[in-house]
Amino acid sequence: MNVTKIPYPPAAANLNIFMGVDDDTKTRPDEVRVLCALAAQTRGNLLEIGTNRGRTTRALAKQSAPRLVYAVDFIPPVCESAMAREQVNEIPTMETVCLHARNLPNVHLSLLDSKTFDYAGKNIGFVFIDGNHTLEGVRADTELALAAMRDGQTAFPFIIAWHDYYDDRPVDSCFVRVRQYLDETFSEHWPVKHVTGTAVAYAEWPAAGGDEGGKAGAEWEWVLGPSSRVVA
Ligand SMILES: C[S@@+](CC[C@H](N)C(=O)[O-])C[C@H]1O[C@@H](n2cnc3c(N)ncnc32)[C@H](O)[C@@H]1O
Repeated sequence: MNVTKIPYPPAAANLNIFMGVDDDTKTRPDEVRVLCALAAQTRGNLLEIGTNRGRTTRALAKQSAPRLVYAVDFIPPVCESAMAREQVNEIPTMETVCLHARNLPNVHLSLLDSKTFDYAGKNIGFVFIDGNHTLEGVRADTELALAAMRDGQTAFPFIIAWHDYYDDRPVDSCFVRVRQYLDETFSEHWPVKHVTGTAVAYAEWPAAGGDEGGKAGAEWEWVLGPSSRVVA
């Protein structure tokens, strides 16, 4: 397992962030600061998988303007059957989805299953994965981002950040699957950093210039497996 604990970054602590106000306590303000600080280290556009009410989206969009933020979520009846029980009550409605950010000029809201998101032509350098928290969901969202990087469709430096990397949840909760996936699978291939005191973990690829993030072709196949979407 290649997961390093890193202290809360000073750059994040100093950020003045812009969040929508409601009683929703999903991604905490200190975590949103970390995400904004990470996004600031990248170029190109941003993607948030699972925008929900758009609080994190709002902060990312305000902090990163004029870069675009692609915000993804879905509303009934276009939902996934494979969602974890604990997550079903999080699904937004037409009134609430991306409420705090959807009117910002640099936010592009897409209502779709994140597994079908198309990276082509979007020049995304920062991805925040906070959607389906089952093992299959986290893996699918991550592998789609990796496939985009492998295929030269992302900007560099490239960062993938995940929410819900928890040390302290019951083992039968879907909210331990992010950690399970990162500890047991992802970090076998790339180093992961966990910001202590938060549920944010991330991996970064420095200026690889679109050349497969440093992996050779055969190794990519092994990482992503035969069932992953391969963009020609
Ligand atoms: C924990 S909430 C996201 C919170 C938000 N990122 C924030 O920081 O405020 C998870 C969201 O992911 C959405 N979601 C779950 N599975 C999804 C999928 N396959 N495609 C798109 N959205 C999904 C849910 O509808 C929910 O709104």
